[in-house]
Amino acid sequence: MGKEEALQILVLRNLLMAKNKDTVNPLWGGRFEEGNDSLTKSYTSSIDIDKALYEVDIKGSIAYAEALKQAKVISPKEFQKIKKGLVKILSEIKSDKFEWEEGLEDVHMNIESALAKKAGNAAKKLHTGRSRNDQVSTDLRMYLNIKIDESLKNITYLQKNIIKQAEKHIASIMPGFTHLQIAQPVTFGHHLMAWYEMLERDYMRLIDAKNRMSVLPLGSAALAGSRYKINRSFLAKKLGFQSLSRNSIDAVSDRDFVIEIASSLSILGIHLSRICEEIVLWSSSQFEYVHLSDEVCTGSSIMPQKRNPDVAELIRGGSSKTVANLMGLLSLMKNLPLSYNRDLQQDKEFIFGSVDYTNDSLALLALLIKDMKVNIKKLEADCKLGQITATDLADYLVDKSMPFRKAHETVGKIVAFAESKGVQIFELEISELRKFSKLISEDVNYYLDPVKSINSRTLVGGTAPSRVKKEINTAKKVIANR
Ligand code: ARG
Repeated sequence: MGKEEALQILVLRNLLMAKNKDTVNPLWGGRFEEGNDSLTKSYTSSIDIDKALYEVDIKGSIAYAEALKQAKVISPKEFQKIKKGLVKILSEIKSDKFEWEEGLEDVHMNIESALAKKAGNAAKKLHTGRSRNDQVSTDLRMYLNIKIDESLKNITYLQKNIIKQAEKHIASIMPGFTHLQIAQPVTFGHHLMAWYEMLERDYMRLIDAKNRMSVLPLGSAALAGSRYKINRSFLAKKLGFQSLSRNSIDAVSDRDFVIEIASSLSILGIHLSRICEEIVLWSSSQFEYVHLSDEVCTGSSIMPQKRNPDVAELIRGGSSKTVANLMGLLSLMKNLPLSYNRDLQQDKEFIFGSVDYTNDSLALLALLIKDMKVNIKKLEADCKLGQITATDLADYLVDKSMPFRKAHETVGKIVAFAESKGVQIFELEISELRKFSKLISEDVNYYLDPVKSINSRTLVGGTAPSRVKKEINTAKKVIANR
């Protein structure tokens, strides 16, 4: 390379480097001589994701400013200035007039720096005794609390729609399945109430997680706690927390609450997925158990006849995100030393993804179930398949004092015989049945009828319509008290 060429390259490189460097961040740049590389800036920025926290961040800052006023760190006048500025910023963000800056890293610094322009010196006092480490954990708890309340409402609404359908089909018989093979008759209402129960556990899990999350980190500052006389109990009350964190190092390091919510949402996600899998199967032309409304189906771009259950499929597929997000959070946390580490910034992408999937999917599934038409005739017709009352026949023999294992074997032989004839056991003549056991007489028909089979299962948790009705009434009361 010639001397001139080398010089040219050097000039070019310097030019490029100058372009990549920027001014020092005004909020933490005191000890820095040079600005960040532009790639560093975009790499470290989380604003695209954490700006979702703006409302709770502002609420938290107003409360914190009030605590600073009480502690005489700022004057009442300064508090008013800060509050007014923050309220103004809130309305600017809401009306889309706020300009987010990537260079200011995150939601906290974007808002603080905007406040400096509105409230001058007073704004510069807001961060006294506070760190983004206790701030972000406080914000995230408040945000998730709101989002989980939304999930709880959506779960309840979905449960209401399930109960309505279950009530309509309290006595509609259908085949119950194990291994996806016809097993025993149940009612459609009973099957739907199984969905209700799954969702009820999800509801309780989220309530538990919400309660454990309700611990205020604010006042922990960076990691060592604050030297200012901040009234933490006042802050907890104002911001809706049940208690105060008892260890500042733990408070800024802990993301158990995020993992716990993500875990509860992933269990809920797989429940939604299993429900949707049944809906996909049932709406197929092989099953024809349910008909979905146009609102939740789409067509095919090539096959004109198609009406696909895409919403149910996407809820089923999308639930994998809740599982992936939980795994993401667990691996994010696994090797982190205490206390705060920047890795923690990446928790939001995971948990926000799970929360959004959950709230949208719950709302859509409620709509789908509300308008779902049930094909009672097909459900009933399928109860004439799969030797569905074979277990009832064994019960009959037990009632006639045959030991159960022997009855099981005898019915097995009867089933094999019926299948060799290509009929169902209830289609066999009494004389044919008696060849297998003399204990059988006319009254066996009472056991072979699927409807009678259902009516006999009256224990708590059973499929008898009288029992399902009781469970529906209990569920309605549970939901009315929410
Ligand atoms: N954006 C950061 C986060 O979400 C805020 C905390 C930053 N703290 C720090 N020491 N750099 O975790």
